[in-house]
Amino acid sequence: MKKHELVWNKNQHGVGIALIDEQHRQIIDRVNQIANAVAMEAKSDALKEMLEDMLIFACEHFAVEERLMAEHGYPDMENHIQEHLRMYQQLSNLVKTVLRATGRNKAALVSAYLSDWAERHILQADKELGGFLIAKGLN
Ligand SMILES: [Fe+2]
Ligand SMILES: [Fe+2]
Repeated sequence: MKKHELVWNKNQHGVGIALIDEQHRQIIDRVNQIANAVAMEAKSDALKEMLEDMLIFACEHFAVEERLMAEHGYPDMENHIQEHLRMYQQLSNLVKTVLRATGRNKAALVSAYLSDWAERHILQADKELGGFLIAKGLN
């Protein structure tokens, strides 16, 4: 396993809602692809495209979670949406700055940052949401 590679693990990352878990798995795949591309010093154009794709996919994913929260009256919806907005901002800033980043240290920072970006939210906010939705009878 490479240094910053994330590995999907159902026990660790699973929130128990099939659609959300599937999308998280795809996000983790994309994070790894981007981290590899950065490590291999991929061309800026290719990297930019991957990051922009990731941004679009993240937006779609956030919308799915926010729809489920609204439909089921999730009490912590405000905070969760704020966190999505913050993540979106961070990711779009990264898209702008990563293209200027060169050298191994910066590359490692980018991949570590992305891993953290994706994983921390899944392990905390999304797990809480998953528990709530399971209690409402979803799976
Ligand atoms: Fe979320
Ligand atoms: Fe999520």
